[in-house]
Amino acid sequence: MTNLELCRALALQGKSAERPATAVAAIAACGLLLATGVAGCGGSSSTSSQTTTGATATLRDAAQKHSLLVGAAVDSNHLSETLYASTLAREYSQLEPENEMKFVAVHPDPTTYNFAGPDALVAFAKSNSMQVRGHTLVWHNALPTWITSPATPWTAVTLSQVLQDHIASVVGHYKGQVYAWDVVNEAFNDDGSMRSTIWYDSPGIGFAGQGTKYIEQALLWAHGADPAAKLFVNEYGAETMNAKSDAVYAMAQDFVARSVPLRGIGMQLHIDTNFDTQANLASLAQNIQRLGALGLEVQFTEVDVRLPDDSATSLAAQAQAYQDLMKVCLANKACTGFQTWGFTDKYSWIPSFFTGYGWALPFDDNYGKKPAYTALVNSLQ
Ligand code: G3I
Repeated sequence: MTNLELCRALALQGKSAERPATAVAAIAACGLLLATGVAGCGGSSSTSSQTTTGATATLRDAAQKHSLLVGAAVDSNHLSETLYASTLAREYSQLEPENEMKFVAVHPDPTTYNFAGPDALVAFAKSNSMQVRGHTLVWHNALPTWITSPATPWTAVTLSQVLQDHIASVVGHYKGQVYAWDVVNEAFNDDGSMRSTIWYDSPGIGFAGQGTKYIEQALLWAHGADPAAKLFVNEYGAETMNAKSDAVYAMAQDFVARSVPLRGIGMQLHIDTNFDTQANLASLAQNIQRLGALGLEVQFTEVDVRLPDDSATSLAAQAQAYQDLMKVCLANKACTGFQTWGFTDKYSWIPSFFTGYGWALPFDDNYGKKPAYTALVNSLQ
């Protein structure tokens, strides 16, 4: 079966429960074929239902002119959906597994590593000349029960061994294929103190009460597994100048001064349209500027702009917010990536976590381009 034939079969099938290696490769090729306009694989990819930019640039082409990576959080289970794969390949230069590299997914049992889903995403990215961001190695959420409810309580020594093995195994598996990692995710409280987690102090990996020392250790382990990977600390609520971003900055300043292998800070940016004020945008720009002055990169890692409805007014406000965020990123060369948390409203996390909200992404449920998409492309022209 040729890739195109398999692509068609997958499109008809709609969903693939299991993916042998050949199917993974063909799904990846499917995205490429569709993105480059090969006809007959589930129909045309130009289903824009609202606004278009005419026959002009895609998002990734427009961003390329600025050497900016535009990414989306994705799920390998959707790659068999024709429009999902074709839109992703056509519009984005980077992907990141939304969930499939998290501890619970990739390391479900003490001796089991499950790389099938992320491997499929890496293959898709390779076939479509996309970069892969890894997410995430050290987080207090998405942990398997063998970590959260161990038969024998963890000590700092045993937990440290587990985390070291986890980081070495996952980063090592993707050495040379994942260019950047969110090594530690959401380690700070809003007041700038360290969040109490299993990794920090409950019981922690040996640095309880020592502030960012456990983050430093995780970075060193990741760096050992892939010295070329760009290592990030990722946070929410630390986008503008505030107590939390001050703590992140202080950590960054300390790590840079001591040559700890931190390459950048990820700013999640899960926002609603109220974020889009001149004061917040200026504060965001100031925060990027101070991190950039340390020689660090900043990436917008999980952008979405949730709405209470999809009225024209709401969609226009959302478009303005996306455009303003993109402009802030473009204005500082430290900002090297603009990634959204998903790309189609069909699979956004928002409706299940924010009751009454949704419509948060640049593409609608049917992969039609929303005003937010057009605003992003226009701001890159
Ligand atoms: O895998 C099961 C699936 O088998 C089952 O059918 C389904 C039914 O509910 O649940 C599935 O797992 C869920 C998974 O999302 C996939 O949909 C988990 O219960 C749910 O907890 C998980 O939520 C994810 C959440 O992180 C926790 O890991 C969201 O999709 C994901 O968007 C969210 O992402 C986080 C970032 O990692 C960090 N920053 C915040 C961001 C949003 O919360």
